[in-house]
Amino acid sequence: MNHTENHKFSLTTPLYYVNGVPHIGSAYTTMVADAIARFHRLQGKSVLLVTGTDEHGQKIQRTAAEENVEPQVHCDRIVESFKSLWDKLDIKYDRFIRTTDPQHKQIVNEFFARVWEQDDIYLDRQQGWYCVSCEEFKEERDLIEDHYCAIHTNKQAEWRDEENYFFRLSKYQQQLEKLYESQPDFIQPASRRNEVLNFVQQGLKDFSISRIDLDWGFPIPIDDQHTIYVWFDALLGYITALLDPDQAPTLDNALAKWWPIDLHLIGKDILRFHAVYWPAMLASAGLPLPSKVFGHGFLTKDGLKMGKTLGNTIDPIELVDRYGADAVRYYFLKEIELGNDGDFNETRFINVLNNDLADVLGNSLNRTLGMLKKYCQSTVPQLSSADFSSDHPLKSIGMTLGDRVVQAYENLQVSQACTAVLTLVRAVNKYIDDSAPWKLFKQEQHSEVEQILYAVLESIRLSAYLLSPVIPSTSSKIYQQLGFDWDFNQEQENSQGAFSTHSNWGELPMSKALGQASPVFLKLELPSKD
Ligand code: MSP
Repeated sequence: MNHTENHKFSLTTPLYYVNGVPHIGSAYTTMVADAIARFHRLQGKSVLLVTGTDEHGQKIQRTAAEENVEPQVHCDRIVESFKSLWDKLDIKYDRFIRTTDPQHKQIVNEFFARVWEQDDIYLDRQQGWYCVSCEEFKEERDLIEDHYCAIHTNKQAEWRDEENYFFRLSKYQQQLEKLYESQPDFIQPASRRNEVLNFVQQGLKDFSISRIDLDWGFPIPIDDQHTIYVWFDALLGYITALLDPDQAPTLDNALAKWWPIDLHLIGKDILRFHAVYWPAMLASAGLPLPSKVFGHGFLTKDGLKMGKTLGNTIDPIELVDRYGADAVRYYFLKEIELGNDGDFNETRFINVLNNDLADVLGNSLNRTLGMLKKYCQSTVPQLSSADFSSDHPLKSIGMTLGDRVVQAYENLQVSQACTAVLTLVRAVNKYIDDSAPWKLFKQEQHSEVEQILYAVLESIRLSAYLLSPVIPSTSSKIYQQLGFDWDFNQEQENSQGAFSTHSNWGELPMSKALGQASPVFLKLELPSKD
């Protein structure tokens, strides 16, 4: 990887279906993507976070019909609820692509033409069970009793028997196998990779990329009796999204700066599309492949699968309105190891936040600022890393923390990154108790008191900095109380240089004037039942 490549990082969330307002699954993927994007920005990289909406297909057409509105009107309404939730959750996306954007059609047509020229598209008969909620043909073995979908257990798959255009996926069997072998981390985590390898080993079948009973979508360029299959159209949204706003919609323009994408972050249910169909489509069009597809796990509520029929969904809008963005982000990013399934339970949610952010992080800052006021006239002791031995209880953790957090983000282990930081904050509270600066102050050991308070303050600063991709508002409050003019939600002078000083323990000259102390995270309470 050359230097400039190292300084760019592009990632995508899935493009979400607009059949309804955003659910917690979409919010989860987007929060994870945002934290990863923020961490790369913090390191001074140029980052492109792509998100957006997948608006064509039968599912959306039917939803709009049920509401008696034109599909476009329906989509426009729902898109607003996505954008508003992303704002509430402090998601800083760079591109929001809608598959109904006019430039997208041109990209799809040009891509289609390339694949057509390779003789990778042909007309044939499609027979099979189709799940409209998945927008996917299912094998009998993937369905449960009475042809209900295993993912959407309240939806019956529909029998289809029609002429469709097919994409010659089978032609790419060997090429895909070679890809998975030569780039073992193309699909992550390992369990997902194995799933894909098993699927591919069974032999790839060509898949249909057009529908005949559908108006809501782009017509197949060579046959307007057919509409392009929603997944073929949606995946290409990742390319259209890369166009600058004033650029002519050509593939060359779209691919010039940000392609190939470094990371497609998705949920495990849509792995096959991203790890099998998508690379094959790109190979057919002669385009380079993305570097990585990461399939995260599924969320449950109180240990149960969520669903509208069970009536136990989590409304992300309600959650963020009630508890705030940092709380929601922290719970899902810290409590769930990315890649594993995870559970949401409101009591646990409250306990985790009150413990980690209010009691551990907030309280350590509060105690420290209080002592600085009392013992040092709110002035930061002018010390630095060199004044502390390397086995100092806080410096010893702080010295390697930045590197460990970088490593964790490189491995997409956001939860581990948070846990590593929390270890330092917990050590701060213990260190204050053990070293009892109030006693030393009474004994007039002023330089010892200064040493302690500097070490503590610097550890809290470093923790706030390294947690900022997850809890940007809380980190900003901490930085401001430490006297820094810094807001992690604003574009600022992120650079490699800034990262190396801010992410190191004791390297940053502290501001002399501390800001006003106030609680950075207020304790949460469960809403009353009535
Ligand atoms: N439109 C397609 C993606 C096209 S990408 C070119 C799609 N959209 S979706 O709205 O259904 O996807 C939502 C995302 O939420 C997916 O990543 C999916 O895995 C995720 N989740 C949906 N339910 C979920 C949970 N219960 N838990 C966690 N994530 C889940 O698929």
